[in-house]
Amino acid sequence: MADLEGLTEGERFQTSVVAPSLSNTLKGSGALDWGMQSRLARIFRPSTNRTVMLAIDHGYFQGPTTGLERVDLSIVPLLGYADALMTTRGMVRSTIPAITRTPIVLRASGGPSILKELSDEQVAVSMEDASRINAAAVAVQVFIGGEFETQSVRNMTKLVDEAQRYGIPVLAVTAVGKELKRDARYLRLATRICAELGAHIVKTYYCEKDFDTVAAGCPVPLVMAGGKKLDELDALTMAYRAIEEGASGVDMGRNIFQSEFPTEMIQAIAAVVHESAKPSDAYATFIKSEVKK
Ligand code: R5P
Repeated sequence: MADLEGLTEGERFQTSVVAPSLSNTLKGSGALDWGMQSRLARIFRPSTNRTVMLAIDHGYFQGPTTGLERVDLSIVPLLGYADALMTTRGMVRSTIPAITRTPIVLRASGGPSILKELSDEQVAVSMEDASRINAAAVAVQVFIGGEFETQSVRNMTKLVDEAQRYGIPVLAVTAVGKELKRDARYLRLATRICAELGAHIVKTYYCEKDFDTVAAGCPVPLVMAGGKKLDELDALTMAYRAIEEGASGVDMGRNIFQSEFPTEMIQAIAAVVHESAKPSDAYATFIKSEVKK
């Protein structure tokens, strides 16, 4: 029999105190279901509503990329500095320790390699498996203007339909083919299509001119892609500008893991993203590392 001794009816109702109405200040996410908001709060630090996502999913179409030859050696030590890790289920299950506190943004599209037409992707992970992995979000490539544009949009909308059922957000990656210009006009078009069709986060490239209009026109959090390796100060400056102009964070790969000092670089990026540190101040960490070398 249950021990009822000492059990009394509750009295601490504090009837004069009104219960709070919950609110979420992350761009465009206030009306989402609780599980979806909870997962977004694992990716975007609630104190800043920004994220430093480390992208290491390159192998899903280009094999062992420079800096990712041994993810166990180059990336696992960085996990503690990233707000989220964008990677594949193969790398998660083989190499990422399950005890990590860093949420996983799971690559969920794929198909063609760099030897073929890249826009010809399919959905490559079921939402059931994403949920088994405890993914905080799934990521899908969207090729606006690409040869398989409609198919890639359909991949995204299929994932969004399932995402709504499972409470797992979808990150749409706006992929720019070689023939397309990465200007504000194109990026506004691509990011807005992804958000209108249901993406909960959109990833896009930075453009020098009018990036603020790209961010303003996208009603959900926009994260800036890194792109090819730049000098550290240039990469920090690009991240700084993107944040100042309305991005909710970065999703960078090569500019972190191809740096000579990846640990210092990811911390410098975090200072820019979360503390609005000036690029030159954040860069000072490199000068110190160089001196120590
Ligand atoms: C997009 O194609 C994939 O997510 C990439 O693997 C990722 O965006 C690349 O990151 P980065 O350009 O910063 O190396």
